[in-house]
Amino acid sequence: MIEFPGNFVFGAAAAAYQIEGAVAEDGRGPSIWDTFSHTPGKIGGGDTGDIATDHYHRVSDDVRMMASLGLQAYRFSVAWPRILATGSGQPNQAGIDFYSRLVDELLGHGISPVATLYHWDLPQPLQDSGGWASRDTAFHFAEYAQIIVESLGDRVRTFITLNEPWCSAFLGYATGVHAPGLTDDASALAAAHHLNLAHGLGVQVLRAQAPSSTQVSISLNLHNVRAASDSDLDRGAARAVDAISNRIFLDPILRGAYPGDLIADTAHVVDWPALVHDGDLAVISAPIDFLGVNYYSPSLVASVDGDSSATAALSGADPMGANAPSKWPGSDLAQAVPQPGPYTGMGWRIEPQSLTELLLRVDRDYPGTPLMITENGAAFADEVGASGVVDDQDRIEYVRDHLAAVHAAIEAGVDLRGYFLWSLMDNFEWAWGYGKRFGIVHVNYETQARTPKASALWYRDVIAVNGFVPAEPAQMS
Ligand code: FCB
Repeated sequence: MIEFPGNFVFGAAAAAYQIEGAVAEDGRGPSIWDTFSHTPGKIGGGDTGDIATDHYHRVSDDVRMMASLGLQAYRFSVAWPRILATGSGQPNQAGIDFYSRLVDELLGHGISPVATLYHWDLPQPLQDSGGWASRDTAFHFAEYAQIIVESLGDRVRTFITLNEPWCSAFLGYATGVHAPGLTDDASALAAAHHLNLAHGLGVQVLRAQAPSSTQVSISLNLHNVRAASDSDLDRGAARAVDAISNRIFLDPILRGAYPGDLIADTAHVVDWPALVHDGDLAVISAPIDFLGVNYYSPSLVASVDGDSSATAALSGADPMGANAPSKWPGSDLAQAVPQPGPYTGMGWRIEPQSLTELLLRVDRDYPGTPLMITENGAAFADEVGASGVVDDQDRIEYVRDHLAAVHAAIEAGVDLRGYFLWSLMDNFEWAWGYGKRFGIVHVNYETQARTPKASALWYRDVIAVNGFVPAEPAQMS
């Protein structure tokens, strides 16, 4: 039996635009994801978040469902454009009331609310004046954070400022596969810095207003970047990808400085001394109470100039997009290398021990920072059986083996405080639309019926006994 520490928290996560729907109700303004999803060709199947899982109207039932699974915590995000339709100015009371009710219902069922302030749905008017490429957006974020802490700070004990700023900056402004769909490296780097600044300003506001026991954090999608070989070229490529994926956030937040190699790699793209104002790094590096780690799959990287014949035999898809020069600023000397399976329904390699490796690395390089897994989970091609039941043994194995990997990190001494499964229910998976299902609860998008999958019932049992029996070694992938 694998048993977790007594105070370990088991939760599930979701995000506003992916589940709420009701995009034009009760004073909500448009966000960049409304605009992007309504732009032809951007989203698989032409899907939008207009209705999503209709959570906005079903919040009480959904909280009851969470309680029936025994969830100890629920990580949700607040939609900025519900609180401030144009991004700033007068708050919209109806929007505040929705989250206030959600928080009360969670607390009423003994579920701890964990509120993420920004999970990618920037109010469109702020995009029209530059979005995250504009420094002003960070200050607007602080005003918004102030409203949230004034309205929810008496009951929410854990706040996460931003979800995965890497995606906001680099998928949003460099490759353009996420909203706002721009492809400009200088803007992407400016966005990364302004997101870091927004985080720091948000921490200041939360510290000033919230009770002192309030936990403040940020969720980063950390990449476990490995070099395809020991050659200097491949290791150099992995270093550059690590800088632009991980250390561009970890270092300013946890060490108060941007990494020298990142600045050197990108000096031809952006004028760092002009971008980073005096005092910014002190704001960004204000202490956090834990670091949220979102993890799905490892990354394998080679140099575009090297001999990658060692890896040419491997096949399969890769989240970075294999066999093309990296599109991330300053790392075009690198390419993603296809990795062997097994894969999830996203084509992402399943490798639980890579999570242990990543957690040990973060603990070693940034000591003294407690960690929390704020997202981990998998999409699979679920088959709906009779009476709507999904027997998702593949998802159970994925979660079980990743929980074992988390446990291994704890055993090795990492201060790891909890695990949030992505996701509570099937939802709008960004550029993939509704085609990819990450939920432990199945959603029928015709009827909005929710049916717990086998994985939900398995997770309920794990939570009930604070652990599980691990797989036989022979079954471990
Ligand atoms: C993460 C996002 C989350 C979800 C999962 C699959 O990058 O934070 O909203 O889409 O991936």
